[in-house]
Amino acid sequence: MDKFVIDGGRELTGTVRVSGAKNAALPALAACLLAPGRSVLSNVPNVMDVRTMRRLLLRLGAGVVSGDGRMTLDVPAALKCEAEYEIVKQMRASYYVLGPLLARFGRARVSLPGGCAIGARPVDLHLRGMEALGARVTIVHGYVQAEARQLRGARVNLAGPHGVSVGATINVMMAATLARGATVIESAAMEPEVAATAELLAAMGARIEGAGTPVISVEGVDGLRPAEHRLVPDRIETGSLMAAVAITRGCVTIEDCRPDHVGAVIDVLRRAGVKIAAGDGMITVEARRRLRPVEIAVAPYPGFPTDMQAQLLALMTVSGGIAAVTETIFENRFMHVPELNRLGADIRLEGNTAIVRGVPALTGAPVMGSDLRAAAALVIAGLAAQGRTEVSRIYHLDRGYENWERKLRKLGARIRRVHQPMPA
Ligand code: UD1
Repeated sequence: MDKFVIDGGRELTGTVRVSGAKNAALPALAACLLAPGRSVLSNVPNVMDVRTMRRLLLRLGAGVVSGDGRMTLDVPAALKCEAEYEIVKQMRASYYVLGPLLARFGRARVSLPGGCAIGARPVDLHLRGMEALGARVTIVHGYVQAEARQLRGARVNLAGPHGVSVGATINVMMAATLARGATVIESAAMEPEVAATAELLAAMGARIEGAGTPVISVEGVDGLRPAEHRLVPDRIETGSLMAAVAITRGCVTIEDCRPDHVGAVIDVLRRAGVKIAAGDGMITVEARRRLRPVEIAVAPYPGFPTDMQAQLLALMTVSGGIAAVTETIFENRFMHVPELNRLGADIRLEGNTAIVRGVPALTGAPVMGSDLRAAAALVIAGLAAQGRTEVSRIYHLDRGYENWERKLRKLGARIRRVHQPMPA
């Protein structure tokens, strides 16, 4: 297990490039299973979740060659149609193979994922969607089994108790591409990764309209062909870098990003007093003074992303007042709060709202990441804390941030990775 050792208090300056989006890579890799032949993805981030998906595709029988940000997939005429517990428990997004396998081969067997550090995260909406398309879904021995000789287009409403679902929207959209007839997905998630996946599917020959809006229409086709596709930049890495620059009161230009995908983050940071100039594929962030506190609630896109909640909290720990950040999507996404408090933050939880009383400065301490974005938040806080911060369980961060310590070092941070032997 690795940890980061950070000597905080150095402002970040310079330029940095954003990697391709993990959350676009995972469905794109699964989507390639819909067509036999060779598909090529570029701008693929070399992060743990992508490597886990690669392992799953290999087990299903696809050939995968990766290097230099490209992934070439050779998808054979026949695939194994099962995603085992061993992989699904490591990464819930393994669920993305359900729709493509079911649509192409008429059956899929995918382990139920089980619990997760940020909440229950059920898959009922994915299953509701597959059933609406005519699949018979049963749960046996901890596995979801879905079968349908031929999926049929249908009207599906994917609203759940916590609102829309990114994963279910993409999964049902992928399945519907090969269904007979027309599918209309209502209450669809509008995240950029949905539109990006639809763009890949369209390049494969799918007929999709409305991806990126609450209503998606899919006209089923008989077959899809392989395609080449470039992944969109990672909007959460973009936002995380913006928070890192702001907390160190630095000035950095972030390149190869999509400012239009981080509109809500830009708005909130500007409200906090961060100077932001957005151009074509780039954002310059500058923060020279103490930030103002903000009050926000996370929301599905185009709202402020839940995946930026922890990083914003880190930033608010040193604001000049009292901030309030409400989580509305995941019920247990505040594991980073006690860890931030170990760094001298003053955060109190009231239900699903974190009340953050800004302190003049954080002080370094050993802390522990509990999930991907929590780990990023602790690194961000550590960059500003006086003295040394050690963030352990960095494997969480490695799931979704490519070369982060190298990127931050290039911007002037003192951060290094230390290999920690496993406890006996
Ligand atoms: C995706 C992102 C994740 C992000 C989340 C919300 C990927 C790989 N992950 O996760 O980083 O935090 O969107 O923006 O893209 N829900 C149900 N039933 C379901 C599915 C979801 O009740 O069948 C609930 C979830 O528990 C959660 C809410 O719906 O409360 C939103 O989850 P969802 O959008 O599905 O998240 P993911 O696609 O898993």
